[in-house]
Amino acid sequence: MPTLNEIARTMVSNKRGILAADESIGTMSRRLESVDVEPTEENRRRYRELLLTTPGLSDSVSGAILSDETFRQELSDGTTFPNALGERGVLAGIKVDTGAVPLAGAPGEKVTEGLDGLRARLEEYVELGASFTKWRAVFSIGDGLPSARAVHANAHALARYAGLCQEAGLVPIVEPEVVMDGDHSLDECRQVTTTVLRSVFTELGLMEVRLDGIVLKPNMVVAGDACSRRPDASEVARATVDTLHETVPPGVPGIAFLSGGQTPEEATANLAAMQEITPLPWELTYSFGRALVGPALDTWRGSDDGWEAAQKALSERAVANASVR
Ligand code: G3H
Repeated sequence: MPTLNEIARTMVSNKRGILAADESIGTMSRRLESVDVEPTEENRRRYRELLLTTPGLSDSVSGAILSDETFRQELSDGTTFPNALGERGVLAGIKVDTGAVPLAGAPGEKVTEGLDGLRARLEEYVELGASFTKWRAVFSIGDGLPSARAVHANAHALARYAGLCQEAGLVPIVEPEVVMDGDHSLDECRQVTTTVLRSVFTELGLMEVRLDGIVLKPNMVVAGDACSRRPDASEVARATVDTLHETVPPGVPGIAFLSGGQTPEEATANLAAMQEITPLPWELTYSFGRALVGPALDTWRGSDDGWEAAQKALSERAVANASVR
């Protein structure tokens, strides 16, 4: 059995990254509708089969995060998704949070839920073939936001989740996302990201989570999507790496960024600019959702004729991100 540290290092090393294909049923259904595909269980399954059977995927992808629905589904040849990933040399991951809900007493803010019954669910996911897990907490920037209570509540939940996963032999992806929505500047994003990451590592320490057995999945430090000044890739890279240096202990094996609404090209360019800053104590890689799979979904549009071209579109994004590493 590989150790937590060995799994975590496999997830972030050898020029590979993590494919986030774990959209909830609601989110995935909306994305299918956006390309005129009926949002049925079977179409969600077909789309995930398209992504995960992309030829050569394991050259640039070390692991794939799936949702509970996909984890229990099968490819058209009858192989379960986790087994199909294993056969292709890709680790199977599972999103285990149950989503973000409004936080009491904190208007406009959310707390991520899913701790109740988590220990038993993790045991089942291990049986089904999981090697790692994911839990996403979201933080908005705004007037007085995020509040100290939202930061603390979410950091605490992330740490409790991470502890339970390690107990079950699963590597937790710890995902605190400061979202891009808003007109905030790069500097404001940097300040909030620093506060959030400090709180997350304080809570992980209190919970005695082994830092060499996690993968951190943060946002890059970027300006809000409605901010008029658009920092270039070198500014994003510098601000992000400086923030990580201030907050992330060197014992963490790797940091796999989310894309958070950046275009595929922006996300790749920002990652490439970070790779130029050396030396760094952690591996830096990608765990993109939209920035990896967006072009494939647009190409596929539900048609069997578009299958190969869509896989090529995914492959191109994965190779582009792997090649900057
Ligand atoms: O939770 C969010 C996903 O894991 C990453 O998705 O790259 O589209 O932000 P994204």
